[in-house]
Amino acid sequence: MQKREKIYEGKAKIIYTTDDADLLIQYFKDDASAFDGKKKGSIREKGILNNGISSRIFLYLEEQGIKTHFIKKLSDREMLVRNLKIIPVEVVVRNVIAGSLSKRMGIAEGAPLKDTILEFYYKSDELGDPMLNEDHIRVFELATKEEVEILKDQAQKINDLLLAFLSERGIRLIDFKLEFGTNKDGIFLGDEITPDGCRLWDKETNEKMDKDRFRRDLGKIEESYQEVSRRICES
Ligand code: TMP
Ligand code: ASP
Repeated sequence: MQKREKIYEGKAKIIYTTDDADLLIQYFKDDASAFDGKKKGSIREKGILNNGISSRIFLYLEEQGIKTHFIKKLSDREMLVRNLKIIPVEVVVRNVIAGSLSKRMGIAEGAPLKDTILEFYYKSDELGDPMLNEDHIRVFELATKEEVEILKDQAQKINDLLLAFLSERGIRLIDFKLEFGTNKDGIFLGDEITPDGCRLWDKETNEKMDKDRFRRDLGKIEESYQEVSRRICES
């Protein structure tokens, strides 16, 4: 499958059309950004590692009955995916207090949650991805009520599956972000599942193995992505 026209370039990925209107190629870059693009950098071979990690996770989710946009890994940095109309609502799933939830509630990172928390954010770089509730989503017609129910159900199922998959590989899933999209066959999980959009802590030491190492200048960034890749792709 050949790349045709570049139709989108984001912070970490480029999207190309193919000869088939139903399929796109997702190319993973090494660029990293945080804090609405105010912090920029590059993580060596991140694109290769993230393509491998995301491919492995999408394959697992597909095997477990989750509809994803993933068709196959094409090369080191390229993945063939379904062409989706992205729903402009990011779904964040939280199992442990961290990041913006820790700030908002004034509770230290690492404190357990008695139940999973789902949050919605408006996918808008200009606005800095503001938080939404279900009324905002419905009234501003970002998604229908039925679609929101599917997003919530799928996010919970994906969380249960990933918690088990990662735990078996010595990784605690603290929180993560999902994006969904639609085509004529329904709603599919899109985008990527990588250490860029998940908080992953070592099960034994609680050491951070994700993009927080870049956001917070914690060092050992490449090593952490490599270790996540080793645990996920080699087993
Ligand atoms: P937060 O604590 O900053 O709200 O992030 C929660 C999780 O969602 C974390 O794993 C990082 C991920 N995330 C993204 O991937 N992109 C985003 O734009 C945001 C806000 C969060
Ligand atoms: N949306 C965030 C940003 O680039 C993503 C992140 O912090 O991971 O500012």
